[in-house]
Amino acid sequence: MKKFFLLLSILVLSATGCSSGSNFSDSINNNIKVPYVTLNSGYKMPVLGLGTWTQDNSTVENSVYTAIKNGYRLIDTARYYGNEAGVGRGVRKAISEGIVNREDIFITSKIMPGNYSDPDSAIDASNNSLGLDYIDLMLIHQPGYNDEEVYKALERGVQSGKIKSIGISNYYTPEEFERITKNASIVPAVVQNENHPYYQNTELKNYLASKNIIVESWYPLGGRGHTQELFNNSEIVKIAKAHGKTSAQVILRWHVQSGYITVPGSKDPSHIAENINIFDFSLSDEEMKIFSELNKNQRYENW
Ligand SMILES: NC(=O)c1ccc[n+]([C@@H]2O[C@H](COP(=O)([O-])OP(=O)(O)OC[C@H]3O[C@@H](n4cnc5c(N)ncnc54)[C@H](OP(=O)(O)O)[C@@H]3O)[C@@H](O)[C@H]2O)c1
Repeated sequence: MKKFFLLLSILVLSATGCSSGSNFSDSINNNIKVPYVTLNSGYKMPVLGLGTWTQDNSTVENSVYTAIKNGYRLIDTARYYGNEAGVGRGVRKAISEGIVNREDIFITSKIMPGNYSDPDSAIDASNNSLGLDYIDLMLIHQPGYNDEEVYKALERGVQSGKIKSIGISNYYTPEEFERITKNASIVPAVVQNENHPYYQNTELKNYLASKNIIVESWYPLGGRGHTQELFNNSEIVKIAKAHGKTSAQVILRWHVQSGYITVPGSKDPSHIAENINIFDFSLSDEEMKIFSELNKNQRYENW
């Protein structure tokens, strides 16, 4: 087992270009142990977590609690999703039952464009809704008017202890990255973008790796309405069969083995359990090459 994590660590670190300060370690809790990557902020982030988009407060409370019981330690939410309160309740339930401590959990939220004129209040509102004392990673949800000022508010959030790490989302080119960070005093730790086998954007990934910044994949399975396109891809089906895994599992394995962090979304307990069960096998170099050749630069969303 130790050997496996060492191999995974080497694979992900070489793929992301993370500095020698980065490392992986096991999660301290039961069930499946998700490897961590150390961000350029110094904090450790699990390489796989639960996405919560489209889940309302009561649904998400249950999904988060189920996920934590299955070994998940990273939860992705956003002010825009309207479910931060439910995420907080799910985490607090797991804490109250002694399954985890607050510091075992990594919460990501995002400032939505409607709040770009008053980002400091938006950070407080997210923290209040979550009720978890601090946010582990806060992102600007997407480019928009005043986003450079929003980035400064994120930096203030770090200085005041409301946020541990900061990042951006939906910035797809080095030029967009440079615009938003040109006056930054804290380098973003994470860039969260649409990313899946049909849209790989390795140019941005390599550019960010040179700055010790990690890409986090949203729509890792293609997103709602498109998952079957990926699940039924004949090459992916072949690879899944060879490992006795599902298409979803080999796709998620490709994400983490490529050096991405990823947050597949699900409210289905069996999918939640399935999606974390990807750390007992690895894809061969040949299989990784087949995945990289699936790239079509095909994005499903345009925000
Ligand atoms: N920053 C941004 O702008 C942005 C944008 C979009 C999403 N996100 C984040 O990224 C997360 C992931 O994206 P997403 O949830 O939209 O798309 P996704 O993870 O690619 O796909 C989610 C869909 O796949 C299904 N699914 C999940 N696991 C499955 C499995 N093992 N087998 C079959 N179906 C499965 C889910 O249905 P079930 O519920 O039935 O499992 C759901 O319909 C979001 O939840 C959100 O947290 C961020």
